[in-house]
Formats: sequence, structure tokens, C-alpha cells
Amino acid sequence: MQKILMVYYSGGGNTKAMARAIKDGIAKNKNMDVECVQVGMIHPDRVADYDKILLGCPASGMEELEQAHFEPFYEACKKHLRDKPVALFGSYGLGVGHWMKKWERRCILDGAILFDEGFICLGTPEGEMIDGLMDFGRRFSEFNV
Ligand SMILES: Cc1cc2nc3c(=O)[nH]c(=O)nc-3n(C[C@H](O)[C@H](O)[C@H](O)COP(=O)(O)O)c2cc1C
Repeated sequence: MQKILMVYYSGGGNTKAMARAIKDGIAKNKNMDVECVQVGMIHPDRVADYDKILLGCPASGMEELEQAHFEPFYEACKKHLRDKPVALFGSYGLGVGHWMKKWERRCILDGAILFDEGFICLGTPEGEMIDGLMDFGRRFSEFNV
């Protein structure tokens, strides 16, 4: 059985709601085991122990990752992302998603095998957005390189 690790930051709960929907989508794939944790609850080196990685972080600062918790985690774990399937997601509010485009480019430069475009959601995920997130999780769980 393959193992997916999902690590996310969520200050207000929107990215956490996204994480929950993605996890529900992955659960439809019985061959996939998923562990879902908030950043700070896992050492960055544990990323090395998983087959696929899902990272979630809302837009923060000036179209940046959240700086206090998630940015240090990403910096510390990025060496383990090389040649590994990675999917990104996060909520935003003020901009149009530039933080995610920057993050996608960064992941590729760090050697990750980026799955699809990062999944972004304005504010809280609801309705069809939840369905889309579940589908994103299912498709990532089936993604083979
Ligand atoms: C300090 C701060 C900075 C933010 N900066 C941005 C930003 O640069 N671009 C953007 O689109 N949204 C920005 N937002 C909005 C958040 O990304 C948005 O509220 C998101 O839904 C928060 O997700 P969360 O509930 O998972 O924390 C910012 C919010 C805060 C509190």
C-alpha cells in the first residue's frame, strides 16, 4: 500500500476544510493510506518516509506562504520532495492566486514532480468546490509517474 502525507497550515479553517475534502477523496482509493497533519505536528524529515506529498497553505503576506510556520517547514522538507509526486492546495482572499503560481514554480525548481495545478479556493470551500477537492484527492492518489 502506498502512503500519502498531507501537511497543511490553516489560520482560519479554510485550508483545513480543503484538506478534509481532499482526504475524503483519497479515501475512495482503497490502495492508498493517507496521514493528514497540521504543520508543526510532524518533523520535516518525515516527508522522506512517504510516497506522495500533499501540501496546503493559504496566501499570506504579499502573495507568500504563511511565514511563521509553513515557510520554515517547506524550507526544511524541500530536499525530500525531489523526484516525488507533490500536490499543492490552499485558500486565498485578497488576490487572484499569485502565491500559488510562485509556489508551483518553486516546487518544480526543488525537483518535485508537480501534480496538476495547485488547487486554490476563494475563502471557504462549499458545494461544487468540495466535489472538486475530493476529485483532486482521488486523482492524486491514482497519479503514477
Ligand atoms: C495576514 C494575512 C495575509 C494575507 N495575504 C493574502 C494575500 O497576499 N493574497 C490573498 O489572496 N489572500 C491573502 N490573505 C487572505 C487569506 O489567504 C484567506 O483569508 C484564506 O482564506 C485564509 O485561509 P485559512 O482560513 O486556511 O487560514 C491574507 C490573510 C491574512 C490574515
